[in-house]
Amino acid sequence: MIILGIETSCDETAASLVKDGRWVLGSAVASQLAVHKPFKGVVPELASRAHVERINSVIDEVLPRSNTKVDAIAVTTGPGLVGCLLIGTVTARMLGWVRDVPVIGVNHLEGHLFAGLVEHPGLKPPFLGLIVSGGHTELVIFKGYGRYERLGATRDDAAGEAFDKVANLLGLPFPGGPSIDRAAQRGNPTAVAFPRAWMPGTHDFSFSGLKTSVANYLHATPARKRPKVQDIAASFQEAVVNVLVKKTFAAAAAHGLTSIVIGGGVAANSRLRSVFQQSARAEQKRVYLPDLSFCTDNAAMIAAAGYYKYKKGLRRATDLQVDANLQIQNWK
Ligand code: KG4
Ligand code: ZN
Repeated sequence: MIILGIETSCDETAASLVKDGRWVLGSAVASQLAVHKPFKGVVPELASRAHVERINSVIDEVLPRSNTKVDAIAVTTGPGLVGCLLIGTVTARMLGWVRDVPVIGVNHLEGHLFAGLVEHPGLKPPFLGLIVSGGHTELVIFKGYGRYERLGATRDDAAGEAFDKVANLLGLPFPGGPSIDRAAQRGNPTAVAFPRAWMPGTHDFSFSGLKTSVANYLHATPARKRPKVQDIAASFQEAVVNVLVKKTFAAAAAHGLTSIVIGGGVAANSRLRSVFQQSARAEQKRVYLPDLSFCTDNAAMIAAAGYYKYKKGLRRATDLQVDANLQIQNWK
């Protein structure tokens, strides 16, 4: 079964063709980096307009022939920027009508977990999912397709948001996550002892104190007394990775789960990937990290989730209402 996925929730316009929820036949992502870079962040109105300009070409890229078989279309309905979500859902509805195939709404956060299933045929639920993106940081038990238990989430900033804001404080270019990752590769992670918020007794996270601590450190320490920017970046990144890895393995142990899937843009972080892999060997767990192209926003993950929804018979059009604050919830 072949599903066309469409993703427009934030600043990436993406389309993908996925077979049986696991095999990516084609994936196209049109970045809006150049549009938002001067503003050091995503400008919602500009993002919506950029989606309109790019959506047809990304679909054409994965569906070069109009007679290419598509069994259903899956589209992100939230969470995300409402104007952006509307571009995707309107396009999906129209294509569904033209091709006479069902259109399935998909939760973007769920999509980030389904990215773990893409190209990993051995992975089956149950597993522990860690979503670490620009807007969310959540630990979820993926009990089965469409059956979830949310264990915890960030109480303030998402991990990706902390990367973006700290990069800005350090004068590193937007988007902050990849900039910090690059700088930190040449830095000393023990140069500055930034705090870790362990949130004991919970599976919750908190990153705003860490961000404030970087700001206070920069304020209080004259530039000539500071280590290099790459050392500060590496020390901040180490604090984030340390908390994410320790709390994820603690949650896996508490719930007897041996497989862990990491999804979302921050899952592309090179230090996070290597510490998760090292810890997995030490703790005898399996960690599934999506290919880098499926960590940040993409449509293959949406098509993958759409496939399992389709198989469950969830093809109703009411599914297509956009919701900026959509939470992970069980399929009904
Ligand atoms: O999943 P995503 O593409 O979009 C959302 O759903 O939010 O995640 C974007 C976030 C941004 O905050 C970005 O800075 C972060 O992921 N990110 C990274 C890296 N690549 C992207 N953070 C740390 N290291 C990276 N290599
Ligand atoms: Zn995302």
